[in-house]
Amino acid sequence: MTQDALKAAVADAAIKEIEPWLDRNTVLGIGTGSTVNLFIDRLRPLRDSFRGAVASSEASAERLKALGIDVLDLNSTGTLPFYIDGADEVNANLQMIKGGGAALTREKIVAACARRFICIADESKHVARLGDFPLPVEVIPMARSYVGRELVKLGAEPVYRQGVTTDNGNQIIDCFDFMIDDPAAMEARLNAIAGVVTNGLFAARGADVLLLSKGDGVARTA
Ligand code: 5RP
Repeated sequence: MTQDALKAAVADAAIKEIEPWLDRNTVLGIGTGSTVNLFIDRLRPLRDSFRGAVASSEASAERLKALGIDVLDLNSTGTLPFYIDGADEVNANLQMIKGGGAALTREKIVAACARRFICIADESKHVARLGDFPLPVEVIPMARSYVGRELVKLGAEPVYRQGVTTDNGNQIIDCFDFMIDDPAAMEARLNAIAGVVTNGLFAARGADVLLLSKGDGVARTA
């Protein structure tokens, strides 16, 4: 199976996971990325069965709106029943690295407001230890060099993601050669550096459900 076919299969599985719970008041939290895009496309026939969505990026918001799905302000929705998003890496404890698409801060905010985080991924994202994928860190632009020096002290090789401005007007540093033994401790440590908006470790708030697409079907872990 191609990676695209695996992504399509897990998008189908995510629809099955949430469909029984939808009603006219349901507001869904929607992530960002190519896997989520397939999930968004599959919401189209269901668009009259739920109220709308909160998006973790301008790109996802545009895609939702193009399908006629209302995009709501998180400040007006309260707790969301589900947040559906992909991952760049996910481990056995359902902790993740996210932010390959530079949407990590809004992803973390929407995930924090959700009762259930459903991570949808293909098997290439499943790892024993987080860190092969370069960990993204969103920084306030004036702090970029300072944060880079602090990341070197922690053992990372920081690389400025040139030409990328986040939806929040900030910049991204990717941490290469940075294997992570204790994701929750590292998440907190990185967030304590002045000028860091957030980092792509989703450990303090990991996923509640992992739908992992493999050649022989979609495995569900909760
Ligand atoms: C965006 C993300 C995405 O969830 C992550 O990059 C996975 O994307 P894809 O589904 O395209 O592989 O964190 O910031």
